[in-house]
Amino acid sequence: MKNENKHLTTSHGAPVGDNQNSMTVGSRGPTLLQDFHLIEKLAHFNRERVPERVVHAKGAGAHGYFEVTNDLSKYTKAKLFNGVGKRTPLFIRFSTVAGELGSADTVRDPRGFAVKFYTEEGNYDIVGNNTPIFFIRDAIKFPDFIHTQKRDPKTHLKNPTAIWDFWSHSPESLHQVTYLMGDRGIPATLRHMNGYGSHTFKWVNAEGEAVWVKYHFKAEQGVKNMTNEVAAKLAGENPDYHTEDLFNAIENGDFPKWKLYVQIMPFEDANTYRFDPFDVTKIWSHKDYPLVEVGTMELDRNPENYFAEVEQATFSPGTMVPGVEASPDKMLQGRIFAYSDAHRYRVGANHAALPINRPKVDVNNYQRDGQMRFDGNGGGSVYYEPNSFDGPKETPEHKQTPFQVSGVAEQVSYDQADHYTQAGDLYRLMDDGEKTRTVENIVGAMKPVEREDIKLRATLIFYKADAEFGERIAKGLGLALPQEVK
Ligand code: HEM
Repeated sequence: MKNENKHLTTSHGAPVGDNQNSMTVGSRGPTLLQDFHLIEKLAHFNRERVPERVVHAKGAGAHGYFEVTNDLSKYTKAKLFNGVGKRTPLFIRFSTVAGELGSADTVRDPRGFAVKFYTEEGNYDIVGNNTPIFFIRDAIKFPDFIHTQKRDPKTHLKNPTAIWDFWSHSPESLHQVTYLMGDRGIPATLRHMNGYGSHTFKWVNAEGEAVWVKYHFKAEQGVKNMTNEVAAKLAGENPDYHTEDLFNAIENGDFPKWKLYVQIMPFEDANTYRFDPFDVTKIWSHKDYPLVEVGTMELDRNPENYFAEVEQATFSPGTMVPGVEASPDKMLQGRIFAYSDAHRYRVGANHAALPINRPKVDVNNYQRDGQMRFDGNGGGSVYYEPNSFDGPKETPEHKQTPFQVSGVAEQVSYDQADHYTQAGDLYRLMDDGEKTRTVENIVGAMKPVEREDIKLRATLIFYKADAEFGERIAKGLGLALPQEVK
């Protein structure tokens, strides 16, 4: 039944007689408890917020599509990557990491780059960042790392001492910290940055053969960055600068585009490659594994409603389709648990049935009930398996590929501890101007650290990556490097 006159109703559909005046005893009050419309309105208002994301709280989203330009069915049976011209609708959410929902867009921070492909075989999420690497490589360190990025429990301020204390004790962070402190640490807009799946994923073809891949989304608009000065000014004048830029570009028909490439590593190479290919603090050299084009992503539609589409969007690295599987990357393994757990807490047990998250194919399973079960809940259909009532059946051809594992189960670190070569390479690749800006950014960020020993430990890590890099930081901080390291 449609409300043709568009008259105001309660949420139960009854017409509302007065939406400006509460029911009171005379014009001076008091107010009567029997004014159920007033009570419903106030009570619903009190419940308007869901918890913000524990990380990546500030974000902007857009709809678009992905189109295959190079058929890679040789490597993956995932239908979204098969067949030149195949189009798959998608939703993307960009975000900063550490700030709260209302925080400034133009801070020095990695940017989230989360894509939900609504494929013909269910949803596939690539939940990446605008950096190809990450600060840590074991999920067990993530809560501690994020504590240092968030507010100090006593002062409720950001705490540079905690940030550098953690990084200086976690040299695996060096590569990502160097990247973050370089020019790409503040993108000019969300349209002018690349995206990366960061982890290594397994692709499997129709014959069951596997390769390892890394995803790269390259901005067709080019990569452009923002200076500290402009960023600081904008953070005060227009903290929503990136959000606004993306919205306006799409609204004006200036649709941003990215080309998706993959690096492909033969399955067996993983055993012999000079870096552990599952270590998310490392890149694969493009000389060893060049970029192979896959397709184009274009963003062409803004959300109609921010809360419904952006805030309620739930992305997870565990949302995969046949043809894409996990790698042993310890971070990825942790994330496969962490995201859906966060969604069940933040949005609810039935978050996947919300319009923004619902796949564009039928969902047939035996999950029932739960808070806010707002769809038909399976109606009267069979609700257990195995059954004799023609309920949905598994399809053995979609089983994950079997793989060998061996080794002693223990809590043990990676067997490679070279945190320095790739970070040093990144510094050496910078031109003189970027080298200087990177050093200045590090010095500026480390200056407020309250303890000399923490500054020194952090500086020595940069020194190990590149002696000149470390010496310049030491000089900027007025630190003397101990003789024995020189
Ligand atoms: C958001 C956990 C590492 C990219 C989140 C959320 C959690 C989380 C709990 C909030 C989810 C929500 O409430 O919807 C973790 C854990 C990690 C990890 C435990 C390590 C073990 C990473 C890495 C990347 C990444 C390595 C990128 C390569 C993102 C992005 C979002 C996010 C893009 C925002 C997704 C959105 O737009 O809704 N993470 N994270 N995270 N994380 Fe991670």
